[in-house]
Amino acid sequence: MDGNGRWAKKRLLPRLAGHKKGVDALRRCVHLCIERSIPVLTVFAFSSENWNRPQEEVSGLFELLALALSREVPEMARQGVRLHFVGERSSLSERVQTGFAQAEQNTAANQRLQLNICFNYGGRWDMAQAAAKVAASGQPLTEANISAALALAHVPDPDLLIRTGAELRLSNFLLWQAAYSELVFSPTLWPDFDAADLDSAITAFAQRERRFGQTSAQVCAQASASALPQVAQKR
Ligand code: IPE
Ligand code: MG
Repeated sequence: MDGNGRWAKKRLLPRLAGHKKGVDALRRCVHLCIERSIPVLTVFAFSSENWNRPQEEVSGLFELLALALSREVPEMARQGVRLHFVGERSSLSERVQTGFAQAEQNTAANQRLQLNICFNYGGRWDMAQAAAKVAASGQPLTEANISAALALAHVPDPDLLIRTGAELRLSNFLLWQAAYSELVFSPTLWPDFDAADLDSAITAFAQRERRFGQTSAQVCAQASASALPQVAQKR
């Protein structure tokens, strides 16, 4: 969710005003995903590296987080959103940790949309903590065991990864899980990200051929085989 600071700067507003608008954009995006029956949305809210921002901005972001936990979560719960907070928690305050745990508990039975909020998250942190977990359990360090120990093991790898704000990099987001994700880079600053932006990303995604290492001919053959009626397939 990149571009909050630039959105504010363009309007001669403090950066925090952009982050506030970013919360509105997230609420809108959750709604759009529900409307489109998208089952999982994972957003990058605060990275392991964002601690390096000016202290004033970091504390402003945490105030906004507290506000969002009290104001946004109940409404999301009503809409059938199941929340997961993904990231390193032990270095966060007791208050934030409790807020995360309560939001997760209160929405645990919801099934409409799984919303993963990556907070104090980094892709490298996730891979390292997963490897440490597997090693501590005495299991071999296989791809399957690492995948199962990742902080996002409860959802499939993302099909589509959208980065807003015109930056062309992953910045330590979903490094393991994005191996075969289709990437869309949107010039829109996150506070402005709307239905048209989401739909244009989905349209771009729908035009991609996903080969997962295979040839185009193989993919086409499989697609036409699965389109055949059951009886014809058996013959
Ligand atoms: C992303 O917006 C939000 C967070 C990292 C919390 P930025 O704050 O990175 O916005 P720009 O890149 O300065 O525009
Ligand atoms: Mg940025």
